[in-house]
Amino acid sequence: MIYFALAKGRLAEDSAALLEKCGVDTSVLQKKTRKLILKSEDGKYGFFLVKPSDVPTYVEAGVADLGIAGKDTLLEQGKDLYEMLDLKLGECKLCLAGFPKRHDLLTNPHLRVATKYVNTAKKVFSERGEEVEIIHLNGSIELAPVTGLSDVIFDIVQTGSTLKANGLEVLEDVYTGITARLVVNKVSLKTKAAEILPLIGKLKEVVS
Ligand code: PRP
Repeated sequence: MIYFALAKGRLAEDSAALLEKCGVDTSVLQKKTRKLILKSEDGKYGFFLVKPSDVPTYVEAGVADLGIAGKDTLLEQGKDLYEMLDLKLGECKLCLAGFPKRHDLLTNPHLRVATKYVNTAKKVFSERGEEVEIIHLNGSIELAPVTGLSDVIFDIVQTGSTLKANGLEVLEDVYTGITARLVVNKVSLKTKAAEILPLIGKLKEVVS
């Protein structure tokens, strides 16, 4: 059996649809349930439904053989796994954002940056030789500048509607092409090669 770690939330539907196109029976994922482990009706696949940021943890540990994870999460966590394929789903970008036209803030030596992506933000600013204060938040990042907790945010932007609704805008695109990636456990790729390699081949075909 092949085990997948799949993200609940905005990637869920697209991930299931893509796997279905590749011959993975995902009909069990259409059912409304609070169960977190599901098995395909043909008994070939198991699905763990996890928080998006937990996908790499399951795959690195080998509890799941395969996973679909956002590039943002992979950059942030740097887990020991194979990133095999860009699935071109859920495209977004990692940006610095704040109040409109306040690009001047980005060079402020006492800049306060709120983010879920602490490691990535530290890397970005250290590569620029800038020391900034990073404020770790778990969600609703846009609230930070609005309330005065931070000057800017470093966050993913997809449609831009959350920024707009909170009176903010992108000040700088830092990483574009943030999409969902197929990740594979290093041991599983060897021990379950006969099942995993054809599936990767099929995914490549469908994605391109
Ligand atoms: C993410 C991100 C932004 C929003 C961007 O949050 O942190 O808040 O999506 O998407 P948009 O550009 O399409 O508006 P998420 O929805 O994951 O919720 P969170 O605040 O709980 O992190």
